[in-house]
Amino acid sequence: MKTFLLLGLLGAYCSALSTKQQRRFPDDFLIGTATASYQIEGAWNEDGKGENIWDYITHNNPTVIVDESNGDIAADSYHNVERDVEMMRELGLDVYRFSLSWSRILPSGFANEVNEAGVDYYNRLINEMLKYNITPMISLYHWDLPQKLQELGGFANPLIADWFEDYARVVFSKLGDRVKLWITFNEPREVCYEGYGFTTKAPILNATAVGTYMCARNLLLAHAKAYYLYNNEFKTKQGGQCGITISVNSFKPLTDSEEDRAATELKQQAEWGIYAHPIFSQEGGFPKELVVRVAEKSAEHGYPRTRLPQLSEEERVLIRGTADFFGVNHYTGYLVSATRHTPEYSTVSLLSDINVGTYRPVEWLQSAASWLTLMPNSIYDVLTHLKNKYNDPIFYVTENGWATSPEIGLEDDDRITYYRAALESILDSLDAGVRLKGYMAWSLMDNFEWLAGYTERFGLYEVDFSDPARPRTPRKSAFVYKEILRSRVIDHDYEPDTAVMTIDEGH
Ligand code: NOJ
Repeated sequence: MKTFLLLGLLGAYCSALSTKQQRRFPDDFLIGTATASYQIEGAWNEDGKGENIWDYITHNNPTVIVDESNGDIAADSYHNVERDVEMMRELGLDVYRFSLSWSRILPSGFANEVNEAGVDYYNRLINEMLKYNITPMISLYHWDLPQKLQELGGFANPLIADWFEDYARVVFSKLGDRVKLWITFNEPREVCYEGYGFTTKAPILNATAVGTYMCARNLLLAHAKAYYLYNNEFKTKQGGQCGITISVNSFKPLTDSEEDRAATELKQQAEWGIYAHPIFSQEGGFPKELVVRVAEKSAEHGYPRTRLPQLSEEERVLIRGTADFFGVNHYTGYLVSATRHTPEYSTVSLLSDINVGTYRPVEWLQSAASWLTLMPNSIYDVLTHLKNKYNDPIFYVTENGWATSPEIGLEDDDRITYYRAALESILDSLDAGVRLKGYMAWSLMDNFEWLAGYTERFGLYEVDFSDPARPRTPRKSAFVYKEILRSRVIDHDYEPDTAVMTIDEGH
């Protein structure tokens, strides 16, 4: 009797497993990779390109970068259009997401002078991709603000909304005949919190009390302007879509206590709700608890007004609903506690405003980047949470990936473990009815990882930064990703033959 029961259970388990293994990515689900201009292009001062904030900071303050490196040459993608597209073909990508360097197109930041040589680089890249049916998805802004605009205040200056709209108009009119998927901003949190509120991204402003909040408001208005521009002047003719990409980590309460649940909600609001709520919620505006909390803390510290600038009624309505899709960059997650931390805040900041602790169990797989661990099924958590919270929007996962150290070389088994788990979580999300249209791995190739320089590698292809030709070599994960793209299923037992990378027929 017992044996029968056991056999029965085993049978059920095996068939559940095999159904799981056979789950397919729908044919129209776009699978691809992502990169960003400053991280790969190089050619920092060639053919008329202007200086941007990363050029400026790496040249004038090199010690802020771990290995004192910069993106002057990076992966030299500016001179490697054909090889870059060849890699996309080797992998069999459906979609490739990249960003435009604002100062390559508008050297001073302003739209009075367009650098046609810069536009031409993007034309060549797009045209080469389209030859092989690879869909371009473009981010207008991935952190490389023209330096002049920074000197005028950057995202602390409300006029940034007009400057960004002018830049977007140039881009839509030059490239929009062929590009149908637009992202205004990549990761507002990293722009505002890290760049203005703290010191972990350019322009390293360290304006802890107000930087994040001022930037958030102006960035949202800039996003909305570019969205309306596309919607009103280009959409009918060009037929594309315009969204925004927000970094969404998974946050879960450490315990089931009411305090931990409230702390988790506040943490979510401060991390990504501050950008997502004004655009995707029905009522619009900044998240309520956060508004109240920052007002209280501002008063407590003697500020005559709240440090989170209010959106006027008109602005609230303007920003609400300005996205055709929600781009999610997702990497990792944390457990949140209201009490289990020792607050040691030397300055007033978003962190002291919310005053919560975050944890990660030691058993979560650790990558070469200290902030990045594998939290089980976190993509599913995040996407189903956002689906319910924001009334079922269309999603793209616009980034997801794993860091290895340079010494790992081509044998990147942890990256394979991570991608397989992530893609299972994507399938779980699709099964749960999330309106998810695509997934992009970060990254196609190794690149300049901001303050970590070249000490953390995210590429499916390794780049040899010591060789002037910047040769690219597929890692083991590239072969596994290629097989997933080819078969549209995840085979956990697949062992690639890594001897030669080829381009399959039809690519
Ligand atoms: C997200 C950012 O968009 C990208 O620029 C960065 O390299 C990856 N995260 C990895 O940190």
